[in-house]
Amino acid sequence: MAIPAQVRIVEVGPRDGLQNEATPVSVAARVALIEQLAGAGIRAIESGSFVSPKWVPQMASSDEVFAGINRKAGVTYSALTPNLKGFEGALAAGVDEVAVFAAASEAFSQKNINCSIDESLARFEPVMAAAQEAGIAVRGYVSCVVGCPYAGEVSPAAVLGVTDKLLAMGCYEVSLGDTTGVGTPGSVRRLLDALVPALGHQRLALHLHDTYGQALANISAGLDYGIEVIDSAVAGLGGCPYAKGASGNVATEDVVYMLNGMGIETGIDLDALVATGHWICDQLERDNQSRVGRALSGKG
Ligand code: HMG
Ligand code: MG
Repeated sequence: MAIPAQVRIVEVGPRDGLQNEATPVSVAARVALIEQLAGAGIRAIESGSFVSPKWVPQMASSDEVFAGINRKAGVTYSALTPNLKGFEGALAAGVDEVAVFAAASEAFSQKNINCSIDESLARFEPVMAAAQEAGIAVRGYVSCVVGCPYAGEVSPAAVLGVTDKLLAMGCYEVSLGDTTGVGTPGSVRRLLDALVPALGHQRLALHLHDTYGQALANISAGLDYGIEVIDSAVAGLGGCPYAKGASGNVATEDVVYMLNGMGIETGIDLDALVATGHWICDQLERDNQSRVGRALSGKG
């Protein structure tokens, strides 16, 4: 299959990134980050989570974040919602889109959202119904698509099963999460060999954490299967609070640099993105995890 001419980047730094940062980030800084990302040309920004603040304190006040954003036309500002309570909060905050999140591993489902995979899918039913009534699109996530921090290897068949169910419930797209970044082009190809013929490539996205430094190679493998939606986080921020040792998502700067070199359009201004990555790292007083960000600013 020919690689895509364009890729849609879903920037998850303000959610997946900041949810795991030890330094508390003010609402004003979260809003500024989101506005800078939109200014750099990103058109899909996961901007917060409507989850229990006892479980993920970093995402508290996501309603205030949404209220503070000076929205840019053409940009989708989305949020994670694990249940109907979360969806109602997200709707009241004026989100454009929500995401429900399930896992391909029972052990991870219990640790992350305190219920089994089937129970999580049952909790999403009322979310899907309410979202449809409100005219809000729902994205799905499947975590642990190649490996689980608690249960080890995860079979492509398990991922196919839960992905198929999320699509059948009405998710317009499912993002395949390598939560701990253990995947390689070998395991990602085995996964896509199972999923793409069954589900098509158009409704699948890749969401890869870069713990083992494999994410760009894995994205390149995904492009060969026609995948045209990639999740990433500016400066490689974050991790997952329920996947110990998981580092951040692949850095958006690194993905855009690679795609530029492959002649694949994203509509993103790399220089503006690099500046945003350094800005948020200064706020967090942490090192920038983007190799491209460091190289382009002479900090490599
Ligand atoms: P629970 O304790 O089983 O839920 O948590 P509960 O229904 O028994 O409620 C307990 C308390 O939480 C109650 O409050 C509820 O009102 C409250 P209390 O009476 O104790 O004061 N509550 C809520 N509060 C705010 N918003 C809500 C909400 N729901 C209940 N929506 C629950 C179940 C799902 C809520 C909890 O486990 C939770 O919030 N987990 C958060 C999980 C999370 O955010 N994980 C990180 C994101 S997933 C991820 O990073 C992976 C991904 O990036 C893909 C990848 O990389 O693989 C997407
Ligand atoms: Mg993630």
